Amino acid sequence: MGRLIAISNRTAADASARAGGLAVAVWESLKSTGGMWVGWSGNISDEVPAEPEVFTDEGVEFVVTDLTEQEHDGYYLQYANRVIWPIFHYRVDLAHFANPDFSAYAAVNARISSLVAPRLKDGDSVWVHDYHFLLMGDYLRQSGWKGPIGFFLHIPFPSPEVFRTLPEHDTIARAMSQFSVLGFQSKTDRSNFVRYLVENCDATDEGDGWISVFGRRIRANAYPIGIEADSFAKAAMSEVANTAASRIGRFLGGRNLVLGVDRMDYSKGLPQRFEAVGKLFDHFPQTRGKVSFTQIAPPSRSKVEEYRDLRTQLDGLAGRINGDYGDLDWIPIRYLARSYDRRELAGLYRIARACLVTPLRDGMNLVAKEFVMAQDPDDPGVLILSEFAGAAEQLSDTLIVNPHDTYRVAEVLYKALTMPLEERQERWEKLRQTVVDQDISWWREKFLRDLGVEAG
Ligand code: UDP
Ligand code: G6P
Repeated sequence: MGRLIAISNRTAADASARAGGLAVAVWESLKSTGGMWVGWSGNISDEVPAEPEVFTDEGVEFVVTDLTEQEHDGYYLQYANRVIWPIFHYRVDLAHFANPDFSAYAAVNARISSLVAPRLKDGDSVWVHDYHFLLMGDYLRQSGWKGPIGFFLHIPFPSPEVFRTLPEHDTIARAMSQFSVLGFQSKTDRSNFVRYLVENCDATDEGDGWISVFGRRIRANAYPIGIEADSFAKAAMSEVANTAASRIGRFLGGRNLVLGVDRMDYSKGLPQRFEAVGKLFDHFPQTRGKVSFTQIAPPSRSKVEEYRDLRTQLDGLAGRINGDYGDLDWIPIRYLARSYDRRELAGLYRIARACLVTPLRDGMNLVAKEFVMAQDPDDPGVLILSEFAGAAEQLSDTLIVNPHDTYRVAEVLYKALTMPLEERQERWEKLRQTVVDQDISWWREKFLRDLGVEAG
């Protein structure tokens, strides 16, 4: 069996990548197949390093490089995070277009490809991850690589009408057609991509995932990403989890915990969620003093203006709601702008009565799946999930909401808090079964099988 070579912007070599779905999923996959992981070191240096850093950890060979200030700005902060990210999350209003940033984006794709190409051997398979490297297939083909190149998009793929607002949509779609297999989080994302190829590039959808386009035959399918379900369930009973649970338990003083866990990102619908919690206390006064909402929100991409604005908005909203409803012995909303270890989160999930996962758009949302796995079968909490999270396609047995409809979210939250044990157990058992059946190995094997790799 050949090696698997993963390429992603963040790798597990970088500690700041831990609070993010991609690094968690790729790390879990590569540890089980072995192979190589190529990407950004997480550091910035004055000049393009002559050589990448190469080291091995848990059987995985890492090849990582620093970015220059200019690369980091044009490729990562600007084009990836101020153009592609907002557009792919349907926030065209937040996108900042500038041609030099696309050049920087293309140049970093080319540079990373030049680190990978000389290391490839016959029989290897390449697996490119996420929106940072949409052009990677093109550069690897230009280097002469004819072997399989898979691509998995961890974020949504927007409808063609929205994708076409990207000035470089044509170049990007052509480059994406150089991949052998393209994976999306949901059927909706897959069909958006295929519809774009059919409408703009004269592609034919041949069925069974096969597309012919630009004289090539490629595959595009939905492969909803999963978590390491069993080990997450165990983590929820670990010492670290118990300690975190008892620490928050001391704060709660017997009140019910409603939890939110998200990177501080405008795609996560946090202001709407805070509003909904305010409406719970407003319209269901019996919950005042009885329920405490805690939002864990590690700051993310704080060099980008829209992310700093979000922080200011959340500070204001939390302050207002606490001012309006709080009492001498009760803080309605607690919002912690820092990250926690996943095992600590597991302990918090376990004791939460309800978890609000209400993004305005999300590729998958692993928090939803982690929450399910962390529950106590004798007394499971309730997941409230946005219809706009990829996870909603698989977890349709939970309470599904439109996050923009904040009054309805408040009503559904009340329903969750008052749901009888039997119904909670019935719903939870179905969700648990799905998360266990469609776990991270299921995802990896399904994708790699289509790429023609025998998973190890
Ligand atoms: N996470 C974490 N610490 C935190 C907050 C989040 O380790 O303080 C993890 C969380 O457990 C999950 C991931 O970060 O595994 C977030 O993935 P998700 O798909 O929910 O969202 P993303 O950040 O990828 O948009
Ligand atoms: C999401 C993206 C990942 C990204 C992560 C954290 O999960 O899909 O590609 O790594 O967010 O964002 P950051 O910009 O810190 O890498």
